[in-house]
Amino acid sequence: MVTRLDWTSQPGGALHGDVRVPGDKSVSHRSLMLGALADGTSHIRGFLEGEDTRATAAVLQQLGVRIDTPADGERVVHGVGLHGLRGTTQQLDCGNAGTGMRLLAGLLAGQAFDSTLVGDASLSRRPMRRVTEPLALMGARIDTQDGLPPLVVRGGQPLHGISYTLPVASAQVKSALLLAGLYAQGETEVIEPHPTRDYTERMLAAFGWPIDFTPGRAKLTGRHALRATNVDVPADFSSAAFFLVAASIVPGSRLRLPAVGLNPRRTGLLQALRLMGADIRIENERESGGEPVGDLLVSHAPLHGIELPEALVPDMIDEFPALFVAAAAARGRTVVRGAAELRVKESDRIACMARGLRALGVSIEEAPDGATIEGGAIGGGSIDSHGDHRIAMSFAVAGLVANGTVHIGDCANVATSFPGFLELANGCGFRLA
Ligand code: S3P
Repeated sequence: MVTRLDWTSQPGGALHGDVRVPGDKSVSHRSLMLGALADGTSHIRGFLEGEDTRATAAVLQQLGVRIDTPADGERVVHGVGLHGLRGTTQQLDCGNAGTGMRLLAGLLAGQAFDSTLVGDASLSRRPMRRVTEPLALMGARIDTQDGLPPLVVRGGQPLHGISYTLPVASAQVKSALLLAGLYAQGETEVIEPHPTRDYTERMLAAFGWPIDFTPGRAKLTGRHALRATNVDVPADFSSAAFFLVAASIVPGSRLRLPAVGLNPRRTGLLQALRLMGADIRIENERESGGEPVGDLLVSHAPLHGIELPEALVPDMIDEFPALFVAAAAARGRTVVRGAAELRVKESDRIACMARGLRALGVSIEEAPDGATIEGGAIGGGSIDSHGDHRIAMSFAVAGLVANGTVHIGDCANVATSFPGFLELANGCGFRLA
């Protein structure tokens, strides 16, 4: 049981300084899983010390994998090989993490033993048929509770490859199928309606698994081996997003965010903010651990509303709470469509953001797949994050430009993706308590 934690965010002055945001959540989850299934020892640096990624580490430990923590942000994973995991009758608790549960469902579908994956109240409401149905086409047997967790993954099922076209763009579903594909006879191919983050594909290649991938399509055959490798996790663009919006909307601000992961399937918000008039520069662009990274320099600039190009939606799927705050602070109207997936994230992010922004006096109209936001003044008031980390952090940003105190309820889950947010934010000029 997580203790309830509430915040207040107060308007303050300009934001300044260097902000080092923690490691990427998606890359951290995957590095643990591939490290566990590899032959040999993998050293992970820049690992996200969040509750979500720690839950994945704990699950792998329950399955017999030794994972050491030589220092904060580092893990040493002693791989057990593709067939070395040990079954357990204990429940495997993924906490709040959709990525953890969906990827593990694929990975566990190919094992010889049964497993039960459970999650917290929010994860227990999230749809799982999107992974269990295609996995069943591969021969897996996974029981759900009417499509929801817990997931009971039956072991000992012979898997075979399929070619599957995803009905919705989802890197989690794609990755679950590719992980099951490691254990399948023949070829597993995943085709996406729009390319999504390709960390699983890149990392499989780095761990020596033959894989063929281009944006929107990935293909592998089963029954090779993974070779341990070291992973450098870049800083999480989704965590940087709150500071990109904050510095853009607070007059006089200038922040530098070093070594942020800039995988093009993650940086849609950068383009959206630039379309709104933001001043964000990338410096020192380089490659680290097979991923593009760079330092982001963001300065205040007056923002204006936009009609968000729908093609950007999958590339900024986690950044909409932050974008909604930018839109509320901008001049004019912002229209978002084609983002129905937001309704099945850690919360219904369209409904929760609409309720919260309205409580702060912002005019926002919901659509089934988006919202129309009238930018202008943001007032003080009380909102509830509904236990959603990104909603809590977005309203902390809104509080910087509100003309009164913003009270934010239920913020404990910020620790799932961004431990230390409060300290980092206050260090550059937020007034968050
Ligand atoms: C993720 C994929 C996205 C994203 C999530 C992380 C991943 O989810 O929202 O935070 O690491 O693969 P979907 O696959 O549901 O779009």
